[in-house]
Amino acid sequence: MALTILLIFVLLLPISLANFSPRPLVLWHGLGDSYASPGMLEFTSMIKNVHPNIFIHSVYIEEELDKDRQAGFYGNVNRQIDLVAEQLAEIPELRVGFDGVGFSQGGQFLRAYVERYNSPPVHNLLTFGSQHMGISDIPLCRPFDLICQAARRATKQAVYSSWAQANLVQAQYFRDPANLETYLTASSFLPSINNEDTLRRNGTYSKNLASLNALVLIMFTQDKTVVPKESSWFGSEVVDDFSSEVQRGFRLTSSRSIVPMHLQPLYVEDWIGLRTLNEQGGVIFDICEGEHMQIGDCWEAFVRNWTGEIVENLR
Ligand SMILES: *[C@@H]1O[C@H](CO)[C@@H](O)[C@H](O)[C@H]1NC(C)=O
Ligand SMILES: *[C@@H]1O[C@H](CO)[C@@H](O)[C@H](O)[C@H]1NC(C)=O
Repeated sequence: MALTILLIFVLLLPISLANFSPRPLVLWHGLGDSYASPGMLEFTSMIKNVHPNIFIHSVYIEEELDKDRQAGFYGNVNRQIDLVAEQLAEIPELRVGFDGVGFSQGGQFLRAYVERYNSPPVHNLLTFGSQHMGISDIPLCRPFDLICQAARRATKQAVYSSWAQANLVQAQYFRDPANLETYLTASSFLPSINNEDTLRRNGTYSKNLASLNALVLIMFTQDKTVVPKESSWFGSEVVDDFSSEVQRGFRLTSSRSIVPMHLQPLYVEDWIGLRTLNEQGGVIFDICEGEHMQIGDCWEAFVRNWTGEIVENLR
């Protein structure tokens, strides 16, 4: 009798040592926000209602909220990603891996983490209104507003200066399809994580991205902040060589032509593993109705379906 009890105990021992819990989650906030703003704290607690006991880490560049918010505008993106990779590697709860949710620019930054580090590894990556193919414009001018057009042109030229590329976050994912050569040589961040530069293509990036279980790309249907909004789905704007700035202004205010993901060289030639991932069924296109980051309750089904899976962690 005593022997039987002992035997049962010994057999059950490995199970009692196993720990079942929701897969942890890492959030990366968007521009103008900070890691522990009231909005982010509220979001965290709403996720905990969906997935009780989930461990959530909100990525920060600076511990002080004001400085963290500023770091969304000013800083060197490559260095920020190095810093976040160190931060994530030091969190014991994350060591077996996690799901990631990136808001707006936080989405392409988490993707850069996956491509360059992925240690600990990301399982599902969800990006809301992110700029995976960059932004190709600053807010539009009215037709015939030539002063506005000139200001836009000047900004675009300065955007690829070495100062801007080391200090202005948005400049580091500004991708001007009318000026691709300058972008490829001068931009410090996006051409790298998109493996657009033939000479500097990195196979680790594609291997890591293709190792995701799912990449969930969410576009805001009425997004007027991200130009073009299809960047959230790896779309970019078509620009014909002969179009002058003014003609372009006209065209932009009417209908814009978009190269969809499946026609991008980046996709067709599988520079970053996106095609491999898609052919495994791992790229999910979805939408939220509304303007940029007007997320409402659109997050909930995504968080329910793609995060917080109960997994076994052996202690
Ligand atoms: C490719 O990326 C990995 C991961 O970031 C890095 O360790 C490696 O040095 C890179 N290789 C080249 C040739 O740049
Ligand atoms: C979530 O999963 C349910 C059930 O499979 C499905 O009906 C719904 O469309 C999914 N929603 C999202 C946003 O993934």
